[in-house]
Amino acid sequence: MSSATGLFVTFEGGEGAGKSTQIRRLADVLRSRGHDVLLTREPGGSPGAEAVRHVLLSGAAEAFGTRMEAILFAAARNDHVEEVIRPALEAGRIVLCDRFMDSSRVYQGITGNLEPDFIETLQRVAVNGVMPDCTLILDLPARAGLERARRRGAAGDVAPDRFEKEEVETHEKRREAFLDIAAREPERCHVVNAMQGEQALADEILSIVDQLVAPVTDLKMVEPAHE
Ligand code: TYD
Repeated sequence: MSSATGLFVTFEGGEGAGKSTQIRRLADVLRSRGHDVLLTREPGGSPGAEAVRHVLLSGAAEAFGTRMEAILFAAARNDHVEEVIRPALEAGRIVLCDRFMDSSRVYQGITGNLEPDFIETLQRVAVNGVMPDCTLILDLPARAGLERARRRGAAGDVAPDRFEKEEVETHEKRREAFLDIAAREPERCHVVNAMQGEQALADEILSIVDQLVAPVTDLKMVEPAHE
């Protein structure tokens, strides 16, 4: 089931793909055109989910196993969906979310080795019918992504989180898993090459999203935001 009135776009991919930069750029362009955009992220995005985010990314839950982590991601996602995403879509807003359910399928399901049935059940409860209209998968080789993420870390921005610390092989497996999801759900998923220049990537993403925005006639418009 898709959203009734708004538009729900998620960004997915491995580390260092440039998701955060690209999602911000897309939000800026859409806002400059007068769209009412909600920019959010996972894990987190609502007060309840942000509390769980800390437990997950600090590694505090790691000792309790991947099932526990998967359930915590799902708990955070459900809170985010019910408190923030669903109301925004019902109000006709464009919701841009940095990571969503596909990250759980890949990180907990594939590289966390959890059974597909278990992951699917958690997903059903977590999203409760709120599925992305479009998912952009920012694709790049694991080594290149890790290199970028490491440089970001060295610049003093952020310390590597629990999931960034894992090996190249694990990251390569995740890349394959994202591509697999895209191949199985080609209507929802669009794979974009994250190795191209930042501007070219932004243009490609905008052209994909533009095609979705155009047919939705009841999107909420506001006073255009100027950058
Ligand atoms: P974050 O700091 O948001 O970084 P980024 O998205 O730039 O990598 O970290 C989120 C981390 O959580 C990331 O390593 C992927 C992981 N994650 C999961 O394992 N499962 C999930 O369902 C989600 C949403 C994220």
